[in-house]
Amino acid sequence: MMLPVLVTGGCGFIGSNFIRYLLETDPDISIVNFDCLTYAGNLDNLSDVARDPRYRFLRGDIADRRAVREVAETGLSTIINFAAESHVDRSIHDSSPFIRTNILGTQILLDAAREFNVPRYLQISTDEVYGSLGPTGAFTEATPLAPNSPYSASKAAADMLVRSYVHTFGLPAVITRCSNNYGPYQFPEKMLPLFIMNLLRDEPVPVYGDGLNVRDWIHVRDHCAAIDRVWREGRVGEVYNIGGRCERTNLDLTNTLLEIIAKPRSLIRFVRDRPGHDRRYAMDSTKIEQELGWRPRIPFEEGLRETIHWYESRPEWVANIRTGVYLKYYERQYGRRLSDRAPKMKFSGSPANAKRRHANAKSRRELPKSKVRGPKPKRPKVRRAGAGRRAG
Ligand code: NAD
Ligand code: TYD
Repeated sequence: MMLPVLVTGGCGFIGSNFIRYLLETDPDISIVNFDCLTYAGNLDNLSDVARDPRYRFLRGDIADRRAVREVAETGLSTIINFAAESHVDRSIHDSSPFIRTNILGTQILLDAAREFNVPRYLQISTDEVYGSLGPTGAFTEATPLAPNSPYSASKAAADMLVRSYVHTFGLPAVITRCSNNYGPYQFPEKMLPLFIMNLLRDEPVPVYGDGLNVRDWIHVRDHCAAIDRVWREGRVGEVYNIGGRCERTNLDLTNTLLEIIAKPRSLIRFVRDRPGHDRRYAMDSTKIEQELGWRPRIPFEEGLRETIHWYESRPEWVANIRTGVYLKYYERQYGRRLSDRAPKMKFSGSPANAKRRHANAKSRRELPKSKVRGPKPKRPKVRRAGAGRRAG
């Protein structure tokens, strides 16, 4: 049997989807999931495969050199590093955990890969390291790094470390940079699961700024397939961009969600923008498409419907997440922004802001008070297209 693949951060959104993908597609695989279980790490994400003999969970911190050395010295075929602090808004609130995990943690993994001659290292990075685009064009692998948030700066620093270990020590490492993922098992601090869960409960959704920021969306399963290709066949020292060819403004996406879940537009709240909010991301994935024959397969509307259905049909998974810790975060992040009486919900005189003020006032008038303040949980029907193939 092959030496195990070390998947770090495997209890998070993409890591758990990737572990399930490997177990489904490779009968000979052996996986060690190394995760310290931060607020974003959830053992429930892998409860269905926990007893698979090809899979083992080890609680550990990638920034803990001793723990990492202990697992690496047992022999590994690959390290795939998903472990990260991954949320931009949290990095604005406090960047310290981002520096520790994303930079120091990566350095410690790279050192262990070197010391124990791990034959392959894959760094899971993000399109956000390239910064923000104007209305046209797309990031290629040659685009200079220009990160704008503490999160993306820490990911860019990690990418630079990986690059330096390839160049200086000949470490057999590869980097992938992917656009915004959506799909099952995503922690509801990110836009899509947050909006889906709120809408399913008839709660308002907080759209930052004018809602015209653009993201390039990809289903997590397409991302997993790309990682699988790069891990096995990607060239050492290379970077591979991965995108969904699916650019949407946040407002368009919100309207699509409202339509699918059959909820009124009055649930949209335009709230104070994220500081330093990147305007547009778009990925050029020509390199991985031409070199490795990968391309995104899941049509966006279909993937979105499946994803909504997934959250709707997992009340226990959702309930376990909506605990005190999550609600405390939600209150800190959105309490004042979403509150009817928040004094800071002032808009300056631009036409976009006037529109926003009008939309918010209108939506509050349209909603019965009880719904704005404390809606009763309700189980709405999701309109689904065609037969229900499940994501994940
Ligand atoms: P996530 O926040 O859902 O999960 C992160 C996981 O890492 C959690 O299980 C957490 O417990 C674990 N972790 C955090 N710090 C750790 C530490 N010090 N030691 C061990 N484990 C630790 O993140 P995600 O959305 O699944 O993202 C995974 C990776 O993909 C990240 O590196 C992220 O930068 C990258 N990425 C994410 C997206 C996206 O849209 N979510 C897009 C491109 C790239
Ligand atoms: P997010 O899911 O945080 O991913 P990222 O910032 O890494 O792209 O946000 C996606 C987009 O949605 C981004 O433009 C910010 C916006 N957004 C909102 O409008 N409201 C929200 O409550 C959140 C979390 C994000």
